[in-house]
Amino acid sequence: MKTEFAPSLLAADFSQLKNQIQLINEADYLHLDVMDGVYVPNITFGPGLIKDIRDQTELRFDTHLMITKPERYIKDFVEAGSDILTVHLEATDHIHRVIQMINDQGIKAGVSLNPATPIESLEYLLPELDQVLIMSVNPGFGGQSYIPQMTEKIAKLKKIIEANNYDCKIEVDGGIKNHNLKEIVNAGADIIVAGSAIFGAADPAEALAEMRSIASD
Ligand code: DX5
Ligand code: ZN
Repeated sequence: MKTEFAPSLLAADFSQLKNQIQLINEADYLHLDVMDGVYVPNITFGPGLIKDIRDQTELRFDTHLMITKPERYIKDFVEAGSDILTVHLEATDHIHRVIQMINDQGIKAGVSLNPATPIESLEYLLPELDQVLIMSVNPGFGGQSYIPQMTEKIAKLKKIIEANNYDCKIEVDGGIKNHNLKEIVNAGADIIVAGSAIFGAADPAEALAEMRSIASD
């Protein structure tokens, strides 16, 4: 299957959002990092901003909630225009209920795992997930380095998904650059999130095109 790309708006120039989003029109998703300053040590934006940029692009909105007790805000992020809503397993006491809430809203549901969280914790959730987001850095900031053990984690999860024929994509997020992209795709990543590698480049459209060509080589 063709690798999909989800540039992370976190690395964009927030004073030029409209223009920045146009630059990555050729992507598959727009990755939206929501941080609350409690679950992660950083604050970004909420449903209001997502709603305001919704009509500026046709890209699917891939919303990554790094907030504590995400069950409080599922409806708001669906109404803001998310196409996929991903919550952290570690951020709620009742992850299965949260996934049910997202599924009930009729959009795609994902679960994210921090680097230290084993994939075994997904065993009874996988049949209901549209995607798993493997964090390959500790969540909170863009521009960090890829944690090398995550390649094995991706490969292990891929095997489980294939062995059980689950309809579940693997998305990988954090520290992905041209030099490690191929290794991550080969391990089994279906969707690549890239913030600084795309919006930090002099020409984001060209950076995205280059990543696509590396992934498909
Ligand atoms: C980190 C965010 C990532 C981040 C990735 O908490 O979830 O999506 O924007 O940024 P880079 O690609 O710069 O590591
Ligand atoms: Zn993210």
